[in-house]
Amino acid sequence: MNQDQLKQLVAQAAADYVAANAPHGCVLGVGTGSTANLFIDALAPIRSRFVGAVSSSEASRVRLEALGIPVLDLNAVTEIPIYVDGADEVDPGLRAIKGGGAALTREKIVAAVAREFVCIADASKKVAVLGKFPLPVEVIPMAREHVTRALRRLGGEPRWREGVVTDNGNVILDVHGLQITDPVALESEIDHITGVVTSGLFARRPADLLLISSPIGVERLSR
Ligand code: A5P
Repeated sequence: MNQDQLKQLVAQAAADYVAANAPHGCVLGVGTGSTANLFIDALAPIRSRFVGAVSSSEASRVRLEALGIPVLDLNAVTEIPIYVDGADEVDPGLRAIKGGGAALTREKIVAAVAREFVCIADASKKVAVLGKFPLPVEVIPMAREHVTRALRRLGGEPRWREGVVTDNGNVILDVHGLQITDPVALESEIDHITGVVTSGLFARRPADLLLISSPIGVERLSR
């Protein structure tokens, strides 16, 4: 099985999980990326179950609306029972690095509101220690160099993802060379740098359930 097939397998497993567990008429939280795209496609047969979705990006909003799933403003929504999204790396504590698709801030906001965060990934995303995947950090444009220097002092090597502007009008620094042994502490430290909007470290709000696909099937891990 190649990686695309593994993504397809876990996306379908997530749609099945949602079909079995999401209350009828609820609002679904939907993430961003290639795995999330396959999950959105797998929602087609069950789209009448939801009054709508909250999307973590403009790209996912377009895909959801093309399927006939209304996309709601988060400010008009009080409850999101389930939020499904991919990840770039996940550790055994279900903490993750996200933001490879530059949607980290909206992803973090939807995850903060959701009752259950279901992370979907293929087995290549599972790691013992986070940090091999460069950690994305969303930054207010005028603070880019200031934040770069501050991230260097934390031991990383930030690289500006040139040409990328987030849905919020900001820039992304990808921090290379980190060995994230204390993800909760690092998440807080980065959040405290003036000019940082947020990082792609999901440690204070890890996934509640991880669906992870491999050639032998989809494993469920929960906290
Ligand atoms: C988007 O900003 C990310 O957080 C994605 O969830 C993450 O990059 C995983 O993407 P893929 O499913 O495309 O690997």
